[in-house]
Amino acid sequence: MIVVTTVDDLRTALRDRAGRSVGFVPTMGALHRGHLELLHRARAENDVVVLSVFVNPAQFNDPADLAAYPRTDEADRAHAEQAGVDIYFAPTAEAVYPPGFSATVALSGPIVETFEGARRGAGHFHGVTTVVTKLFGMVRPDRAYFGQKDAQQLRVVRAMVADLNIDVRIVDVPTVREPDGLALSSRNVRLSADERATALGLSRALTAGEAAHRRGVTAAEIVLAAELVLSEFGVNPEYLAVVDDADFRQLHEVPPPGSVLIVAAEVGRTRLIDNVVLT
Ligand code: PAJ
Repeated sequence: MIVVTTVDDLRTALRDRAGRSVGFVPTMGALHRGHLELLHRARAENDVVVLSVFVNPAQFNDPADLAAYPRTDEADRAHAEQAGVDIYFAPTAEAVYPPGFSATVALSGPIVETFEGARRGAGHFHGVTTVVTKLFGMVRPDRAYFGQKDAQQLRVVRAMVADLNIDVRIVDVPTVREPDGLALSSRNVRLSADERATALGLSRALTAGEAAHRRGVTAAEIVLAAELVLSEFGVNPEYLAVVDDADFRQLHEVPPPGSVLIVAAEVGRTRLIDNVVLT
C-alpha cells in the first residue's frame, strides 16, 4: 500500500493506470466494518483501489462536532492495508482547500434542503458535493463506493454525477450493522453503555416500520409504528419519515417499493442517523 498526502503524489501513484480500472472509497476515517465493506466491494471489482481519508471541515455545521470527530490514522492504515487498498490518500486541509480556493458545487431543491439538509443546513450537502467533486477530479475513478447508511448523501451524489455528467459509476453498499441491529458509525465510539442501549431504538423502530409496511399500510401508519418503538427506548427523533428514494420528497400514501424510512436522533450528545429501504 502506498500512502500519499498530496495531489501530486496521488497523481504519480496513479500514473500507470492505462487499461486498469480504479475503484474509489471516500471516507472521513475512523474506519469500521461499514467502511471495510465498501473497500471489499471495491477490491473485488477493480484493478486499483484508492481510499481517501479526509475529515472535511466544509461539511460540518457544528465546530464542536468537527473537533470531536474521531481520528484514528494509524489503525485506519492497518485496516486499509488488510483490506487490500493500493493507495491510501490522506490529504491535509491545505492540500484540499489551498489559499484562494473559492469553488462550490451546490445542488438545489428538496434533496439538499430537507431532512439532513434542514437539520445541518444546506451548506452541509454543498460541503459534501464540493469535496466529492474535488476528490473525483483528483482520483478520476471508474467506480466510487457509497454506503446506503447515508441514504440522502448517496442520492445527492447520484444526482450530482448525473447533473454534471461526471464519468463515474456510483456503487451503493447496504448498511453494515452490529449483531443487534445498530448501524455501524464512526460516531458510535462516543456512546456510553446506557446511550448504546438507547441507540438501539433507531434500528428497532425501523424494523417495526418495515413490519407495518408489510401489512400494506400508509406512510403515516408506518411512521406511527416506528415512533412507538422510539418512545419505548426514550428516543426523541429529529425526523422520522417515509421518503421517495429519488428526491427525498416525504410520502404520506402507501409507499411504493423502494421508498425509504429514515430516522435521525440525538442520543446523549451523539447524533445518529439510520434508514431502511421498504421493499
Ligand atoms: P464517512 O462518514 O466516513 O463515510 C464514508 C462512507 O462509508 C460513506 O459512503 C458512508 O455511507 C459509508 N458508511 C458509513 N457507515 C456505514 C455502514 N454502517 N454501512 C455501510 N456503509 C457505511 O460519508 C462520509 O464519510 C463523507 O460525507 C464523505 C463522502 C467522505 C465526503 O466527505
